[in-house]
Amino acid sequence: MWIRQKVREQMAKKNTVLTFRQAKENGGKLTMLTAYDYSTAKLIDEAGVNSILVGDSLGNVMLGYEDTIPVTMEDMMHHGAAVARGTKNALLIIDMPFMSYQISVRQALKNAGRIMKETGCDAVKLEGGHRVCPQIKAMTEAGIPVCAHIGMTPQSVNAFGGFKVQAKTEDTARRLIEEAQAVEEAGAFAVVMECVPAALAELVTKKLSIPTIGIGAGAGCDGQVLVYADMLGMYSDFIPKFVKRYANLGDIMKEAIQGYIDEVGSGAFPAEEHTFKIDEDVIKSVTAVNS
Ligand code: KIV
Repeated sequence: MWIRQKVREQMAKKNTVLTFRQAKENGGKLTMLTAYDYSTAKLIDEAGVNSILVGDSLGNVMLGYEDTIPVTMEDMMHHGAAVARGTKNALLIIDMPFMSYQISVRQALKNAGRIMKETGCDAVKLEGGHRVCPQIKAMTEAGIPVCAHIGMTPQSVNAFGGFKVQAKTEDTARRLIEEAQAVEEAGAFAVVMECVPAALAELVTKKLSIPTIGIGAGAGCDGQVLVYADMLGMYSDFIPKFVKRYANLGDIMKEAIQGYIDEVGSGAFPAEEHTFKIDEDVIKSVTAVNS
Protein backbone atom coordinates (compact mmCIF):
# COMPACT_ATOMS: atom_id res chain seq x y z
CA MET A 1 0.00 0.00 0.00
CA TRP A 2 2.73 2.44 1.13
CA ILE A 3 4.89 1.50 -1.87
CA ARG A 4 2.01 2.05 -4.29
CA GLN A 5 1.41 5.49 -2.72
CA LYS A 6 5.11 6.35 -3.17
CA VAL A 7 5.07 5.21 -6.81
CA ARG A 8 1.97 7.34 -7.41
CA GLU A 9 3.62 10.40 -5.79
CA GLN A 10 6.75 9.87 -7.90
CA MET A 11 4.72 9.57 -11.10
CA ALA A 12 2.89 12.80 -10.29
CA LYS A 13 6.22 14.67 -10.12
CA LYS A 14 7.74 13.14 -13.26
CA ASN A 15 7.93 15.48 -16.26
CA THR A 16 6.79 13.84 -19.46
CA VAL A 17 5.90 14.91 -22.99
CA LEU A 18 2.45 15.66 -21.53
CA THR A 19 4.03 18.23 -19.18
CA PHE A 20 5.43 19.90 -22.30
CA ARG A 21 2.05 19.82 -24.05
CA GLN A 22 0.26 21.21 -20.98
CA ALA A 23 2.82 24.01 -20.59
CA LYS A 24 2.14 25.04 -24.19
CA GLU A 25 -1.61 24.98 -23.58
CA ASN A 26 -1.43 26.85 -20.27
CA GLY A 27 1.32 29.31 -21.16
CA GLY A 28 3.73 27.95 -18.53
CA LYS A 29 7.46 28.36 -19.14
CA LEU A 30 9.59 25.23 -19.47
CA THR A 31 13.14 24.94 -18.16
CA MET A 32 15.85 22.69 -19.60
CA LEU A 33 19.54 22.38 -18.72
CA THR A 34 22.24 20.10 -20.05
CA ALA A 35 24.01 17.52 -17.90
CA TYR A 36 26.66 14.95 -18.78
CA ASP A 37 27.28 13.02 -15.55
CA TYR A 38 25.46 11.44 -12.59
CA SER A 39 26.30 13.96 -9.82
CA THR A 40 25.48 17.07 -11.84
CA ALA A 41 22.28 15.50 -13.17
CA LYS A 42 21.20 14.72 -9.60
CA LEU A 43 21.73 18.35 -8.50
CA ILE A 44 19.92 19.73 -11.54
CA ASP A 45 17.05 17.26 -11.14
CA GLU A 46 16.70 18.04 -7.42
CA ALA A 47 16.64 21.79 -8.21
CA GLY A 48 13.48 21.08 -10.21
CA VAL A 49 14.07 21.70 -13.94
CA ASN A 50 11.46 20.26 -16.32
CA SER A 51 14.01 18.62 -18.56
CA ILE A 52 17.64 17.52 -18.69
CA LEU A 53 19.38 17.34 -22.04
CA VAL A 54 22.47 15.23 -22.54
CA GLY A 55 23.60 17.53 -25.32
CA ASP A 56 26.33 16.61 -27.74
CA SER A 57 27.85 19.84 -26.38
CA LEU A 58 29.52 17.29 -24.10
CA GLY A 59 32.06 17.18 -26.95
CA ASN A 60 33.11 20.73 -26.00
CA VAL A 61 32.39 20.78 -22.29
CA MET A 62 33.46 17.29 -21.22
CA LEU A 63 35.80 16.09 -23.95
CA GLY A 64 37.55 19.32 -24.99
CA TYR A 65 36.75 19.17 -28.73
CA GLU A 66 36.35 22.41 -30.69
CA ASP A 67 32.93 21.39 -31.97
CA THR A 68 30.43 18.54 -31.71
CA ILE A 69 31.44 16.74 -34.92
CA PRO A 70 33.71 14.08 -33.30
CA VAL A 71 31.10 12.99 -30.70
CA THR A 72 30.13 9.31 -31.08
CA MET A 73 27.11 7.15 -30.20
CA GLU A 74 29.27 5.51 -27.52
CA ASP A 75 30.07 8.93 -25.96
CA MET A 76 26.37 9.82 -25.87
CA MET A 77 25.29 6.50 -24.40
CA HIS A 78 28.06 6.39 -21.80
CA HIS A 79 27.21 9.89 -20.50
CA GLY A 80 23.48 9.43 -21.13
CA ALA A 81 23.27 6.33 -18.93
CA ALA A 82 25.16 8.13 -16.13
CA VAL A 83 22.76 11.10 -16.31
CA ALA A 84 19.78 8.72 -16.34
CA ARG A 85 20.99 7.25 -13.02
CA GLY A 86 20.91 10.76 -11.49
CA THR A 87 17.59 11.87 -12.98
CA LYS A 88 14.26 11.20 -11.29
CA ASN A 89 11.75 13.88 -12.22
CA ALA A 90 13.10 15.72 -15.24
CA LEU A 91 12.24 14.59 -18.76
CA LEU A 92 15.53 13.15 -19.99
CA ILE A 93 16.47 13.87 -23.61
CA ILE A 94 19.62 12.58 -25.29
CA ASP A 95 21.16 14.14 -28.40
CA MET A 96 21.77 11.97 -31.44
CA PRO A 97 25.37 12.69 -32.48
CA PHE A 98 26.61 13.79 -35.91
CA MET A 99 26.11 11.11 -38.59
CA SER A 100 24.05 8.82 -36.36
CA TYR A 101 20.77 9.73 -38.13
CA GLN A 102 21.56 11.63 -41.34
CA ILE A 103 22.34 8.61 -43.54
CA SER A 104 18.90 6.98 -43.64
CA VAL A 105 15.63 6.56 -41.76
CA ARG A 106 16.69 3.01 -40.98
CA GLN A 107 19.99 4.18 -39.43
CA ALA A 108 18.19 6.89 -37.42
CA LEU A 109 15.58 4.46 -36.11
CA LYS A 110 18.20 1.88 -35.15
CA ASN A 111 20.36 4.41 -33.29
CA ALA A 112 17.45 6.17 -31.57
CA GLY A 113 16.18 2.77 -30.43
CA ARG A 114 19.62 1.90 -29.06
CA ILE A 115 19.83 5.20 -27.15
CA MET A 116 16.38 4.65 -25.62
CA LYS A 117 16.96 1.00 -24.71
CA GLU A 118 20.51 1.25 -23.41
CA THR A 119 20.29 4.51 -21.43
CA GLY A 120 16.70 4.59 -20.17
CA CYS A 121 16.12 8.16 -21.44
CA ASP A 122 12.66 9.53 -22.27
CA ALA A 123 13.32 11.10 -25.68
CA VAL A 124 15.98 11.91 -28.27
CA LYS A 125 16.92 15.15 -30.00
CA LEU A 126 18.25 15.63 -33.52
CA GLU A 127 19.23 18.64 -35.59
CA GLY A 128 17.60 19.84 -38.80
CA GLY A 129 14.28 20.74 -40.40
CA HIS A 130 12.80 19.31 -43.61
CA ARG A 131 15.74 17.00 -44.28
CA VAL A 132 15.18 15.02 -41.04
CA CYS A 133 11.36 14.95 -41.14
CA PRO A 134 11.24 11.35 -42.46
CA GLN A 135 13.43 10.33 -39.50
CA ILE A 136 11.24 12.24 -36.99
CA LYS A 137 8.10 10.64 -38.46
CA ALA A 138 9.51 7.11 -38.31
CA MET A 139 10.78 7.50 -34.74
CA THR A 140 7.52 9.05 -33.53
CA GLU A 141 5.57 6.20 -35.13
CA ALA A 142 7.86 3.74 -33.37
CA GLY A 143 7.02 5.36 -30.00
CA ILE A 144 10.21 7.40 -29.61
CA PRO A 145 9.49 11.01 -28.62
CA VAL A 146 11.62 13.40 -30.67
CA CYS A 147 12.71 16.94 -29.87
CA ALA A 148 13.79 18.80 -33.02
CA HIS A 149 16.51 21.47 -33.18
CA ILE A 150 16.54 24.25 -35.80
CA GLY A 151 18.25 27.60 -36.39
CA MET A 152 21.94 27.45 -35.56
CA THR A 153 22.51 23.69 -35.47
CA PRO A 154 26.08 23.10 -34.21
CA GLN A 155 26.57 19.84 -36.14
CA SER A 156 26.34 21.95 -39.34
CA VAL A 157 28.93 24.49 -38.15
CA ASN A 158 31.12 23.79 -41.17
CA ALA A 159 28.23 24.35 -43.58
CA PHE A 160 27.34 27.64 -41.80
CA GLY A 161 30.97 28.82 -41.85
CA GLY A 162 31.00 29.30 -38.07
CA PHE A 163 28.66 29.72 -35.11
CA LYS A 164 26.44 32.49 -36.50
CA VAL A 165 22.97 33.88 -35.78
CA GLN A 166 20.56 32.37 -38.34
CA ALA A 167 17.43 33.47 -40.22
CA LYS A 168 18.06 37.22 -40.36
CA THR A 169 16.94 37.79 -43.97
CA GLU A 170 13.41 37.54 -45.36
CA ASP A 171 14.23 34.30 -47.21
CA THR A 172 15.95 32.55 -44.33
CA ALA A 173 13.34 33.77 -41.82
CA ARG A 174 10.58 32.28 -44.00
CA ARG A 175 12.58 29.05 -44.26
CA LEU A 176 12.93 28.86 -40.47
CA ILE A 177 9.15 29.18 -40.05
CA GLU A 178 8.66 26.40 -42.62
CA GLU A 179 11.26 24.19 -40.91
CA ALA A 180 9.49 24.65 -37.56
CA GLN A 181 6.11 23.78 -39.08
CA ALA A 182 7.60 20.77 -40.86
CA VAL A 183 9.11 19.23 -37.71
CA GLU A 184 5.85 19.78 -35.85
CA GLU A 185 3.94 18.05 -38.65
CA ALA A 186 6.45 15.19 -38.67
CA GLY A 187 5.59 14.54 -35.00
CA ALA A 188 8.25 16.31 -32.88
CA PHE A 189 6.92 17.00 -29.36
CA ALA A 190 9.09 20.14 -28.98
CA VAL A 191 11.62 22.14 -30.96
CA VAL A 192 14.81 23.81 -29.80
CA MET A 193 15.55 27.07 -31.62
CA GLU A 194 19.14 28.20 -31.36
CA CYS A 195 20.56 31.64 -32.21
CA VAL A 196 17.67 33.16 -34.06
CA PRO A 197 16.35 36.74 -33.69
CA ALA A 198 13.95 37.08 -30.77
CA ALA A 199 11.05 38.56 -32.77
CA LEU A 200 11.21 35.68 -35.27
CA ALA A 201 11.38 33.06 -32.51
CA GLU A 202 8.31 34.64 -30.92
CA LEU A 203 6.45 34.48 -34.24
CA VAL A 204 7.38 30.80 -34.68
CA THR A 205 6.26 30.12 -31.10
CA LYS A 206 2.84 31.64 -31.83
CA LYS A 207 2.47 29.59 -35.01
CA LEU A 208 3.27 26.20 -33.43
CA SER A 209 1.18 23.99 -31.19
CA ILE A 210 4.30 22.26 -29.79
CA PRO A 211 6.55 24.11 -27.33
CA THR A 212 9.59 26.02 -28.57
CA ILE A 213 12.69 25.90 -26.36
CA GLY A 214 15.00 28.81 -27.00
CA ILE A 215 18.74 29.21 -26.65
CA GLY A 216 19.78 32.63 -27.90
CA ALA A 217 16.23 33.05 -29.21
CA GLY A 218 14.76 35.57 -26.75
CA ALA A 219 12.08 35.45 -24.09
CA GLY A 220 9.15 34.78 -26.44
CA CYS A 221 9.81 31.02 -26.57
CA ASP A 222 7.81 28.55 -24.47
CA GLY A 223 10.95 27.53 -22.59
CA GLN A 224 14.69 28.03 -22.32
CA VAL A 225 17.71 25.75 -22.41
CA LEU A 226 21.29 26.49 -21.40
CA VAL A 227 24.48 24.48 -21.10
CA TYR A 228 24.85 24.09 -17.33
CA ALA A 229 28.60 24.72 -17.38
CA ASP A 230 28.02 28.04 -19.17
CA MET A 231 25.40 29.32 -16.73
CA LEU A 232 27.44 28.24 -13.71
CA GLY A 233 30.70 29.75 -14.98
CA MET A 234 32.53 26.43 -15.28
CA TYR A 235 33.39 26.59 -19.00
CA SER A 236 35.34 29.58 -20.27
CA ASP A 237 36.68 28.53 -23.71
CA PHE A 238 33.82 30.36 -25.42
CA ILE A 239 31.02 32.37 -23.80
CA PRO A 240 28.15 33.07 -26.22
CA LYS A 241 26.26 36.40 -25.93
CA PHE A 242 23.05 34.59 -24.95
CA VAL A 243 24.54 33.04 -21.79
CA LYS A 244 23.68 34.52 -18.41
CA ARG A 245 26.05 33.49 -15.64
CA TYR A 246 24.06 32.63 -12.53
CA ALA A 247 27.21 31.73 -10.57
CA ASN A 248 30.96 31.71 -10.99
CA LEU A 249 31.67 28.18 -9.84
CA GLY A 250 34.86 28.05 -11.90
CA ASP A 251 36.42 30.76 -9.66
CA ILE A 252 35.03 29.11 -6.52
CA MET A 253 36.49 25.76 -7.57
CA LYS A 254 39.90 27.23 -8.36
CA GLU A 255 40.00 29.04 -5.00
CA ALA A 256 39.07 25.84 -3.15
CA ILE A 257 41.70 23.83 -5.05
CA GLN A 258 44.36 26.44 -4.23
CA GLY A 259 43.32 26.19 -0.56
CA TYR A 260 43.82 22.42 -0.73
CA ILE A 261 47.25 22.78 -2.37
CA ASP A 262 48.32 25.29 0.33
CA GLU A 263 47.06 23.17 3.24
CA VAL A 264 48.64 19.94 1.98
CA GLY A 265 51.89 21.92 1.61
CA SER A 266 51.68 23.38 5.11
CA GLY A 267 50.48 20.14 6.72
CA ALA A 268 47.20 21.73 7.87
CA PHE A 269 45.35 19.03 5.90
CA PRO A 270 44.54 16.33 6.82
CA ALA A 271 43.63 17.41 10.37
CA GLU A 272 42.61 15.24 13.36
CA GLU A 273 39.01 14.97 12.20
CA HIS A 274 40.00 13.56 8.81
CA THR A 275 42.15 10.73 10.14
CA PHE A 276 41.44 7.18 11.42
CA LYS A 277 42.59 5.95 14.85
CA ILE A 278 44.33 2.77 15.87
CA ASP A 279 44.93 1.35 19.32
CA GLU A 280 48.35 2.51 20.60
CA ASP A 281 49.26 -1.04 21.72
CA VAL A 282 48.88 -2.27 18.15
CA ILE A 283 51.25 0.42 16.91
CA LYS A 284 53.73 -0.36 19.70
CA SER A 285 53.77 -4.04 18.90
CA VAL A 286 54.13 -3.62 15.10
CA THR A 287 56.87 -1.04 15.72
CA ALA A 288 58.69 -3.57 17.93
CA VAL A 289 58.34 -6.38 15.36
CA ASN A 290 59.60 -4.20 12.51
CA SER A 291 62.52 -2.55 14.33
O1 KIV B 1 24.20 20.04 -27.36
C1 KIV B 1 23.55 20.86 -26.69
O2 KIV B 1 23.88 21.15 -25.53
C2 KIV B 1 22.39 21.47 -27.30
C3 KIV B 1 21.74 22.61 -26.58
C4 KIV B 1 22.65 23.75 -26.46
C5 KIV B 1 20.45 22.97 -27.15
O3 KIV B 1 21.97 21.07 -28.33
